[in-house]
Amino acid sequence: MSFPRTRFRRLRVNKTMRRMVAETRLSVDELVYPMFVCPGKQTKEPIEAMENCFRFSPDLAAKEAAKIAALGIPAILLFGTKEKKDAVGSRAWAADSVVCQAISKIKSKTLELLVITDVCLCAYTDSGHCGVIKDKKINNDSTLEVLAKMSLAHAKAGADMVAPSDMMDGRVGVIREALDDEGFVETAIMSYSSKFASAFYGPFRDAAQSTPAFGDRKTYQIDPACGRQAIRQMAADIEQGADIVMVKPALAYLDIIAKARRRFDVPIAAYNVSGEYMMLHAAAKAGLLDLQSAMMETLLSIKRAGADIIITYFAPDVAKILNK
Ligand code: PBG
Repeated sequence: MSFPRTRFRRLRVNKTMRRMVAETRLSVDELVYPMFVCPGKQTKEPIEAMENCFRFSPDLAAKEAAKIAALGIPAILLFGTKEKKDAVGSRAWAADSVVCQAISKIKSKTLELLVITDVCLCAYTDSGHCGVIKDKKINNDSTLEVLAKMSLAHAKAGADMVAPSDMMDGRVGVIREALDDEGFVETAIMSYSSKFASAFYGPFRDAAQSTPAFGDRKTYQIDPACGRQAIRQMAADIEQGADIVMVKPALAYLDIIAKARRRFDVPIAAYNVSGEYMMLHAAAKAGLLDLQSAMMETLLSIKRAGADIIITYFAPDVAKILNK
């Protein structure tokens, strides 16, 4: 049936009609808020490259986590920053690392909040690379052991889930085995499986001070031209024991999210990364668009593509709107 019998505008006549027929709905339940922690006490320092984002010392991170939980956001994703850097990134797996301190401070508050930790060496190595360097190359296999130690340290401190973002081959299996061997059978793994070598991580690298000292991340992160490879990598990570797989960044990779959703039965997470976040802020600041509408539309597009979980710096802003 076609016009004039069919009129699409009938289902758009007013807000209530549109609300009823909406095919996609955003919910606070699917949001994860990334947070940066740094050494010190009573410290909350603004991150210049990222609007309204801060580095918190472990005590204040716990306070902030309580606010996030009060908004109904189910999880935070922790990144360690400003630790002493060395060749192997040894602060990454220290039992008293800022991340471990923050986890225990947050967990001592018994919040209804999952603590997920980013597992990667880039903020801890003096090279700024995500793996250990051998013969001037990022060495895959010797990095695995270090990532396992880092995951274990986080699990011991009380993390509910670890999220390896380094992109070394075989890491999910090695981390799963290390956790299981020590009895952390319930610590989940969310793998940054489809992590592309993207320009959209720019602002984050300022936040974590993790810009590579030489070269780039193209020998380990996925080439943006390779969608099929991204799917293969997700399949491999699921095989190795990933409970959740992630697509990152989200916006330039909505096709990958949609394919992954159709292909796999595990939850699919999408990371609305720092560059995507700051693009909207910058455009709004320039008077080019309305921030709130652009934010909601962007996150809705990620959900519509098929993401079950959305990791976003907008999480508290969205939650405040959705909770109204
Ligand atoms: C660490 C890591 C990065 C991000 C998350 N984990 C940066 C990178 O790979 O360079 C980016 C997050 C963002 O841009 O919001 N490997």
